[in-house]
Amino acid sequence: MNSREFKIAVVPGDGIGMEITEQALKILNKISKKYHTKFNYVNLKVGGCSIDAYGEALTEETLKKCRECDALFLGAIGGPKWDNFLGDKRPEKALLTLRSELGLYANLRPTKVFDELKSASPLKDSLLENGIDILVVRELIGGIYFGKRGTVIEDGIEKAYDTESYTLEEVERIAHVAFESAMKRRKKVTSIDKANVLDSSRLWRKVVTEVSKEYPKVQLNHMYIDNAAMQLVRDPSQFDVILTNNIFGDILSDEASMLTGSIGMLASWSVGKGTYGMYEPIHGSAPDIAGKNIANPLAQILSAAMMLDYSFNMTEAAKDIENAVKNVLRKGYRTVDIWIEGMINVGTKEMGELVLEEI
Ligand code: IPM
Ligand code: MG
Repeated sequence: MNSREFKIAVVPGDGIGMEITEQALKILNKISKKYHTKFNYVNLKVGGCSIDAYGEALTEETLKKCRECDALFLGAIGGPKWDNFLGDKRPEKALLTLRSELGLYANLRPTKVFDELKSASPLKDSLLENGIDILVVRELIGGIYFGKRGTVIEDGIEKAYDTESYTLEEVERIAHVAFESAMKRRKKVTSIDKANVLDSSRLWRKVVTEVSKEYPKVQLNHMYIDNAAMQLVRDPSQFDVILTNNIFGDILSDEASMLTGSIGMLASWSVGKGTYGMYEPIHGSAPDIAGKNIANPLAQILSAAMMLDYSFNMTEAAKDIENAVKNVLRKGYRTVDIWIEGMINVGTKEMGELVLEEI
């Protein structure tokens, strides 16, 4: 086998980010040996920890180093310590800058109920019978997150505004990601908008409909965001790929991930042109449980698997990790967030070790 090399920007971030990333790196090191592939890690600070170290959440130098890598492996960003920082100075802003500077316009968030964890879902068993296997494809560097905003005093009255706007090209490229993803899945795209009210949504709907003509095998339907939020809990198995703008995707992906009952299990990736990707768990930095060795490292471990698969074309190694995770769950090991009566409760490190043994 040829030996290969990849350069990974490792950004553990804040809160539980550090401890879960540590576990995932152990797994990557073992994969490196087993699959004769060298991973060169570039350790970087982004978010609150960067504010503490350098006075800003993302430095030019860090951004430059991220660009020079083949992929970015991110933990979680933010925490109450930095909540009093205003607007552009907040740790979250660093995340938005990273996404946009790296051109990562598509965020893919798969939501799946692991067979082993069915009982963790808050939904009635009858709703889970047909399974939940949804991929949220969220536009990530446009819309209201990046539109014109401001806080002004007008006629003595304080006013704040944010603007939702999309260009045709921005909608087009994310629509292609959704349809291409659907081709590899159950061939169904539900595009979310608020076209009964918003101009930006009417453009969205028009462009998505146009793009869909290039994918005659994929079934497309349009759904208003309010209805989608309801349908997700009423009948989640109707969804395959959900295509959404930035803010609707932010909201729906949290809702969708909760349906599985185990947000600590879900990984996501963000891509633009080419194979560069940013890989991160869906959950946040959970500062309340940081440093207690109780956080679930599995989402971060599965993010590593995604990175191998999508950025490094190491599909076999990715499957190896996924199977290892499944085996550990099958044997009854659970971190506290997914623990139920009769299972064996383990901590962050122990969970990492258990997955490692299965590889
Ligand atoms: C997410 C997060 C971020 C977002 C925050 C932290 C800025 O909620 O990745 O979903 O809103 O995009
Ligand atoms: Mg969110």
